[in-house]
Amino acid sequence: MYFDVWSKGLAELAVECIAVGVFDEPELTPEARALDHSAGGRIAATVARGDFTGRSGETLLLTDVTGLAASRVLLVGLGPRKSFARKAWRRGCTSAVHALARTRIRTAALAIERPGAKELDDYYFARNLAELAASALYRVNDLKTGKKAPTPLLERIIAGPVRAAGVETARRGFAHGRAVGLAMSVQRDLANLPANICTPKYLAERARALAKQYRTVRVQVLDQAAIRREKMGCLLAVAQGSAQPPRFLVLDYRGGKTQPAGKPAAPIVLIGKGITFDTGGISLKDPPAMDEMKYDMSGAAAVLAALTFAAEARLPLRVVGLIATCENMPGGGAVKPGDIVTSASGQTVEILNTDAEGRLVLADALQYARRFEPAAVVDIATLTGACVIALGAHHSGVMASDEALARELVAAGLRTDDRAWQLPLTEEYAEQLKSNFADFANIGGREGGAITAAAFLSKFAQGLKWAHLDIAGTAYQGGAQKGSTGRPTPLVTDFLVQRADRG
Ligand code: BES
Ligand code: MN
Ligand code: ZN
Repeated sequence: MYFDVWSKGLAELAVECIAVGVFDEPELTPEARALDHSAGGRIAATVARGDFTGRSGETLLLTDVTGLAASRVLLVGLGPRKSFARKAWRRGCTSAVHALARTRIRTAALAIERPGAKELDDYYFARNLAELAASALYRVNDLKTGKKAPTPLLERIIAGPVRAAGVETARRGFAHGRAVGLAMSVQRDLANLPANICTPKYLAERARALAKQYRTVRVQVLDQAAIRREKMGCLLAVAQGSAQPPRFLVLDYRGGKTQPAGKPAAPIVLIGKGITFDTGGISLKDPPAMDEMKYDMSGAAAVLAALTFAAEARLPLRVVGLIATCENMPGGGAVKPGDIVTSASGQTVEILNTDAEGRLVLADALQYARRFEPAAVVDIATLTGACVIALGAHHSGVMASDEALARELVAAGLRTDDRAWQLPLTEEYAEQLKSNFADFANIGGREGGAITAAAFLSKFAQGLKWAHLDIAGTAYQGGAQKGSTGRPTPLVTDFLVQRADRG
């Protein structure tokens, strides 16, 4: 998909369709009024007849419109003018792209009213538009054998209004938004795959493919023997109940200026939980919705997405992605409640519940992160059901040892409408992890379960500028809408852009 801003008068735009907004009074937006004027009152007549009400999300395609270079006009409902803000704008743009995708239209201009610059500046206007267009055009990678719906023909969108002074900023936004859209589709495709296809080995292959595609990305795959050499006792313990051997993936994107004296820049390290299927292990989960535990590698998919974004957008930044991936299965060799293992950090862990496996594999990844002397470490994980209970599907959980980093992530989520909420990670929570036999237990009881999980991680993140994103509630939807959402890729990519801008 190609994006740009339109600059000429709307009537002269040589596209197949122009989309304009209508508020639900119904009241034409200034762009709709201008277009209506050239089109001989066709839009006003449609609205006066009651054929279009301007309800949020409503669309109507007018064809054979005269007086314009474009022969079609798409009316897009924006809801009440009084409450018109970014959310209604997003909804309008999304339904516009959906409507265009159902037609044979290849080129379109969006002239949909924009909220004020404080709500949506030129960069985020363009970035959000490119991102939401990609989401609207995303098709689930199902394995249905019947006839597929035809792929949309839409290939070029020009959008506005953007003042002349904002055009370069908007173009940067389009480029970034396109890369976010691509990254989200990488994440969603991976996460939606069933666990019999998306195995640790498969994730390793995808990481290798990424390095092949982008010369700026290097990859290293640690197999079981190499993982043993790294003394990752926690990752090995989780993996030992499965017929699929674990993998530890190291991706290194170097986009920054080459440093003097060959010393590479301090990277941002992103760590992904890559449990390709979480049965719970010997502490077996209940059957209902267990299939959704194929999404327990969403953190890993988000890390691959973030590196895809960095490479595609050529961010001047060094980003290291670490992915600890295995299955959590109750096989004959499986780790048992009460087993004690030694993590890569040397600290011992009593595994009281084999279903608290995510924190185990992340603990070894956090230790591995130290060798990069990172500027910041962010782990991304579908870590706890407790986080879903606390925040639902609307916010990811943020817990951090570094307040500034936590604030950066929360702010990135606000800017991208991919929100996250910080939970307190004070010292007391770690007391719930006491064990009679090892340095820590891997569970801390039901109370504050999202936080005690983070408290466990903090024991392996000491001295690092570290934050943890619990995406158990946000990364995918269950039920009839079952599927990966692509979150928290908007948040994470925005965080990376801000870090790159900071220099
Ligand atoms: N992958 C799950 C967390 C999860 C639960 C993600 C629901 C998405 C939806 C994780 O490995 C897990 O099983 N956590 C346990 C921890 C408990 C045993 C302390 C949980 O949340 O129940
Ligand atoms: Mn689990
Ligand atoms: Zn899990």
